[in-house]
Amino acid sequence: MIFDRLPIPIVQAPLGGGPSTPALAAAVSGAGGLGFLAAGYRSPRVMAEEIATVRGLTGRPFGVNLFAPVPGPAGREAVERYAARLEPEARRMGVNLGEPRFDRDAFEEKIDRLLRDPVPLVSFTFGCPSAAIISSLREVGSETWATVTDVEEAELAEAAGASALVVQGLEAGGHRGFFVDGKGASDYSVLALVQLAGARVRIPLVAAGGISTGGAVAAVLAAGAAAAQLGTAFMRCPEAGTSEVHRAALASSRPTSLTRAFSGRSARGVVNRFMRDYDLDAPVAYPEVHHLTAPLRARGREEGDEDVVNLWAGQTHELARPLPAADLVRELARDARGALKVAGERLSRSHFR
Ligand SMILES: Cc1cc2nc3c(=O)[nH]c(=O)nc-3n(C[C@H](O)[C@H](O)[C@H](O)COP(=O)(O)O)c2cc1C
Repeated sequence: MIFDRLPIPIVQAPLGGGPSTPALAAAVSGAGGLGFLAAGYRSPRVMAEEIATVRGLTGRPFGVNLFAPVPGPAGREAVERYAARLEPEARRMGVNLGEPRFDRDAFEEKIDRLLRDPVPLVSFTFGCPSAAIISSLREVGSETWATVTDVEEAELAEAAGASALVVQGLEAGGHRGFFVDGKGASDYSVLALVQLAGARVRIPLVAAGGISTGGAVAAVLAAGAAAAQLGTAFMRCPEAGTSEVHRAALASSRPTSLTRAFSGRSARGVVNRFMRDYDLDAPVAYPEVHHLTAPLRARGREEGDEDVVNLWAGQTHELARPLPAADLVRELARDARGALKVAGERLSRSHFR
């Protein structure tokens, strides 16, 4: 398994929408961790180009992440009502709102390319692909990880044949990985989920959500995870494609919150005006709302107007540092070893053994 080939059990989370780059993935893999490309929102052609770029930069294993197709389309009326609500904002910014279309993010074409030109690892979020897709990836030599947010999803993904599970706690930045958004969606924190899933499934777990220090890496490994997956912690690295407004928000100590305002799917970001003004009106309608707000968000990034940008961030974003990714991986590993040593010493000093 890929875990046996990793000198350092630290995974750079796939970070769709810009922050993930081939340079970031290659730097993390080259340092002994596991880098990821985020192929969600990318065309199949760009995905293939990015894979080629990573291969040119490192011979170490890396992963490619895809969005599993979500149920839909959403009801037209709710989307139209939300579009009307956003219209004055678009006029103010001098842009047209995007076409709120439903699509499958070219999932089948991307799988097709990955079967023809396999990579060591493919991970999924927003759902678990069929057992047939997982087994065809296995046949070409690719491991598959599925992102889950509760025990029921963990059992479904194990039954479909996933090699490992990314257990994503609600501390995590960006979109929640649950299979179905809406009422009754899970809200487990990462440590709760590592323990609960660990008691119910046999495949390895990769812990994600709110992990930004070596001590937190140590905590999830001690709780039984095979590796820690960090997203926000890598977003201020020079190799990341994170926009300037986003970098500034990450460096602040402002609070984060979950919202559907930007994409129609629950995601965590630094709270800004757009979230405050529109969160309550946003329907469950992904990817329609993602396409609807895309021109607003792009204009906001261009003009440095953070009020309308989706500032995805995990709860511990203020601990993210602008270090080269390889240095960050090495530092996290060193601090994790130190934290485990201190914890071990505390336990062995106990008078109540
Ligand atoms: C900007 C951003 C983009 C993300 N894009 C993806 C993605 O494309 N695919 C995915 O599986 N997870 C994505 N995530 C979630 C991460 O994989 C991971 O679960 C999360 O970053 C972990 O929490 P942390 O940010 O607190 O470390 C994204 C997270 C952020 C912050």
